[in-house]
Amino acid sequence: MQKEWYEIKGGKRLEGTVTISGAKNASVAIIPAAVLAGETCVLENLPHIQDVQSFKEILEELGVTVDYTDGDCMRIDSRTLKNTKALSEAVSSMRASYYLLGALLGRFHEVELALPGGCVIGARPIDQHIKGMRALGAEVELDCEKNIVRAKAQKLVGAEIYFDVVSVGATINVMLAASMAEGTTVLSNVAKEPHVVDVANFLNMMGATVKGAGTDVIRITGKPKLHGCGYAIIPDQIETGTFMIAAAATMGDVIIKNVIPTHMESVSAKLMESGARVIEGDDGRDFYLRVIMNERPRAINIKTLPYPGFPTDLQQPIMAYLCASNGVSAINETIFENRFNHVKELRRMGASISMKDSNTAKVKGIPSLRGADIYASDLRAGASLMVAGLAASGTTNVHNIHFIDRGYEFLESKLCALGAEVKRREK
Ligand code: UD1
Repeated sequence: MQKEWYEIKGGKRLEGTVTISGAKNASVAIIPAAVLAGETCVLENLPHIQDVQSFKEILEELGVTVDYTDGDCMRIDSRTLKNTKALSEAVSSMRASYYLLGALLGRFHEVELALPGGCVIGARPIDQHIKGMRALGAEVELDCEKNIVRAKAQKLVGAEIYFDVVSVGATINVMLAASMAEGTTVLSNVAKEPHVVDVANFLNMMGATVKGAGTDVIRITGKPKLHGCGYAIIPDQIETGTFMIAAAATMGDVIIKNVIPTHMESVSAKLMESGARVIEGDDGRDFYLRVIMNERPRAINIKTLPYPGFPTDLQQPIMAYLCASNGVSAINETIFENRFNHVKELRRMGASISMKDSNTAKVKGIPSLRGADIYASDLRAGASLMVAGLAASGTTNVHNIHFIDRGYEFLESKLCALGAEVKRREK
């Protein structure tokens, strides 16, 4: 396998315009949701990222006809789908493949699914997904030895389900199954993330009745059959936030187009608190955000929360930004355990970061990070290291960029168009 990395000659002010791609987290839910229809769905504004490509291959393995040759558009014809056993390595290597649980159970009332790698029951459990499927009447069995979940039901019947934790994945997964259950399902304490709303809108386009997405309670009236439709995915909230942070971190002036500004309110607020200017606009075609930074950032505190709070997926990138702030910032991660793998890499660049406890980092700002060889451990850690490399003096080599490829479309060319010196290297 070829090893690739990003070589960044840092310290260049980002300036210009960048256009945001379709949302990864909406795409990886809407692609499997499309199989509920049993007809043809045409999805537009999909990002060219590894996770979308992987889902195409997974659907094909199941017997779905997928045409994904035309730019950002995918045609999914699931009439030919017969196989409800999704057990390949492609399935277990992508976490979002758990959406096949709700989609296949909803349509066929049975599914066998390889779970995402590692011990899924430990660090990132799916107990709330399973609780939801059981409440709809499914028998669910977890085979921890083989790392497989099996679910089947005579029929699915609407139910009232209260989630014990606010989970994006569980909210969407149960919504998928419930959209084909008999009667009404009421989901409480649900996630309100933009992509939850996007999936609900997509289900409604297929003929489902999903109400309340974006609030704490979602009501779904199931339908025996859904139909094909066309749908355009929303812009990516996390890619938008990454470019906003990169603009501020490089003392830049960047117009970020094709965004939904309300999705970005927590990020805009925190960047403004740190001294950046964030201007919302509408050029008649697209909404945009312009981020301008002219001074060393002030230290700020960050606490990650479910939407509309500050997204955990931007905790890592904003930490890289705050490494060069004027003062001490506290960063408190409340959504995931152990989401601080980027800290030791930032330290290699000179960052002064101490862990107060396992979920809180204290970042003492230094005048500037310096280039180093650093290693991404996951997708958003990779984004954090890119921000750090762009802001740092000297050359930074970001390794393990296959993680970054999972979620950022055309990253190199988008950054270079803003004046960054980034090259994808391979040996
Ligand atoms: C999704 C996003 C991910 C983002 C995360 C939080 C996708 C594909 N991924 O991940 O980018 O970081 O939301 O915004 O959309 N939990 C349980 N039991 C469950 C499910 C979750 O305890 O059954 C816990 C998790 O361990 C975590 C919290 O709930 O502490 C939130 O996780 P969740 O919202 O489910 O994250 P994902 O859907 O996996």
